[in-house]
This record gives sequence, structure tokens and C-alpha cells, in this order.
Amino acid sequence: MAERVLVTGALGCLGAWVAKCVLDDGDEVVGFDLGENRARLELVLGDDKSSVALVKGDITDLAAVERALDEHEITRVVHLAALQVPFVRANPPLGMRVNVAGTVNVFDAVSRRLERIPTVAYASSAAVYNPSDPSPAPESGGTRPATLYGVSKLADEGVARVYRAESSVPSIGLRPYVVYGPGRDQGMTSGPTMAMLAAVRGEPFHIGFSGNAVYDFVPDIARACLMAAHSTDGTTGVYNTPGALADVADVAAAIQSEVPGAEITWDGDRLPFPPAMEAVGFDREVGPFPRTSLADGVAATVAHFRRTLATG
Ligand SMILES: NC(=O)c1ccc[n+]([C@@H]2O[C@H](COP(=O)([O-])OP(=O)(O)OC[C@H]3O[C@@H](n4cnc5c(N)ncnc54)[C@H](O)[C@@H]3O)[C@@H](O)[C@H]2O)c1
Repeated sequence: MAERVLVTGALGCLGAWVAKCVLDDGDEVVGFDLGENRARLELVLGDDKSSVALVKGDITDLAAVERALDEHEITRVVHLAALQVPFVRANPPLGMRVNVAGTVNVFDAVSRRLERIPTVAYASSAAVYNPSDPSPAPESGGTRPATLYGVSKLADEGVARVYRAESSVPSIGLRPYVVYGPGRDQGMTSGPTMAMLAAVRGEPFHIGFSGNAVYDFVPDIARACLMAAHSTDGTTGVYNTPGALADVADVAAAIQSEVPGAEITWDGDRLPFPPAMEAVGFDREVGPFPRTSLADGVAATVAHFRRTLATG
């Protein structure tokens, strides 16, 4: 029987790709999101976007989350709804409510439905680390975030740990770093993807940070989120993502190799995390994490943007 997967934050970049993976598997997807802009679903899914059932709801509203789980008889949950770094910075009380209270709601709702929903897959972030942490950052670390957003994600990891201990809710969290690919159009680290889109349009682009970071191709992260959501053996943990370690200069070169002459500049501070991450736990405890090289991920993103622009 097909699984029915609830994706919170389904109108976001990662959510749209998780929705695509669910449909690719032949399962049913229900998106739960406060927003109304279906542009990313359209970009990622094209005409298949109408196969995503959408529930407009606020993750901070426990009753709305429970209703969505029951009315759609949900069997798997991928929790992604959150406000990213700039939005938490702009409105810290709202950011903490959405990112922390919203996550508590998801765990609380699932804790009463474990017979149907075996685990919670959720997005934490590399932002749980501090730039002064060692690099590669040990996967067991991440205790002194440099941003309030990171504090909210570290709190989510604590929520997951306590719901496991007190209410037997298994969960698998992922800590993506710089997510890139079609649909990544907002947040502190959206610059590299925006540069790919600008290159395809023949426009110059300036990336506002420098240095090394781990680049996570969004379809890889989406597939890993679903692998996590399908885990039924009680595995519980939070894992770094084994993306491609690269300097902004490498990203610009990868774009220029797909779009010769693309004008890309960059400067600014390094990102407020250690440049490299240890990422071994997911492979060991959940399964082989999908890995697309930076060159292939950039080529696929550029090709996707070219197709989309060609069809208007
Ligand atoms: N993008 C990255 O590089 C990155 C890195 C690490 C972690 N993450 C995490 O991955 C997840 C997905 O990221 P993304 O890039 O798709 O983000 P995004 O900003 O594109 O999407 C977030 C979605 O959450 C929805 N949302 C916000 N507030 C809500 C609320 N109160 N109720 C319901 N929905 C709400 C938004 O409408 C949006 O569609 C987030 O939890 C994010 O913190 C992202």
C-alpha cells in the first residue's frame, strides 16, 4: 500500500524536492505550509505539482498539525517548516516560535500516533556549530551555535532527544550546510544557486560570502530525508550531511564550466560554521547517503534552469 507522507514546509526548496521524491516512489504526498506561493513546486515538479495535496496551516498550531495527520491518514512525516537565518534575525520571537514550538508540535502529535507513524524525519542544520569548532567538525559536536537560528536548531535536536527518552518517539535529523539546486532562492547561503540562475540568464552575480563550505545538492538531501522517514527500526540520531567540500571559487569555476563567461564575484565573511564536517553516521546507521559531485550538481542545476527559462 502506498505511504502517505506529510511534508511540512512543502512550499520551500527542500520541501518541493522531498515532494518530488515521494511521487517518484509512487507514494502520496501532503504538503503542510503556511505560505501560498507554489513557484518552487512548479519549478521542481512542473505539471506534477497538482499531485501534491496542500494543507494551508501554521506549524505553531498543534491542532492544525494533528488534523492534517488524521484527515490524510498520514504514515510518514518529514518536518522541514522553519524560518531561515535572515528571517529569525529579523524577528527572533517569531523565529523561535516557528522553529522550536513548531518542532515540539510535530513530535507531540506523532507521539500519539506511533502505531501509524514510526519516526520523525526533521531538518536540523550545520548552524548548530560555531566557527571556532574544530574542522572537520566532529559529528558528535555542535553545542555553541553562533546564530539564534542555530540555537533554534540545537533546541530541535534536544526536543528529539527528550521525545525519544520520555515518549519513545524515534527520529532522524539531518544537518545540511549550503543546500543548492533549483528552488534555493532565499536564506543566507542561497547565493551560489542564485549565481547559477543569473549565469543562465546572462546576468552578473555577486555572492556575499567567501571561503570553504560543504555544498549539498538538494535532491540528495531530499532523498536522504525520505530514507530517514521510512526508517522503521527505531534508529534515532542527528547526522551531518556528506556534501562536497568546496571554496566559493570552486563553485564559480563549476558554473563557468557550464556557462562560459559567466560573471561571478564574491567577497565577505566566511560562513559562521566550521568549513568541513565529519559525516559518517547516516551511512552507518540509516543507509548510503546519496552523493552528487559539485560538478554534476551544478551541471544539473544549470540544465534545469535552462529548460525552465526555455519553456517560460
Ligand atoms: N537551505 C539550506 O541551506 C538549509 C541548511 C540547513 C538546514 N536547512 C533546513 O531545512 C529546512 C528546509 O529548508 P528550505 O531551504 O527548504 O527553506 P525554505 O525557506 O525554502 O522553506 C521553508 C518553508 O517553511 C514554511 N513555513 C515557514 N513558517 C511556517 C509556519 N509557521 N507553518 C508552516 N510552514 C511554515 C515556509 O512557507 C516555506 O515554504 C528548514 O528547516 C531549514 O532550516 C536548510
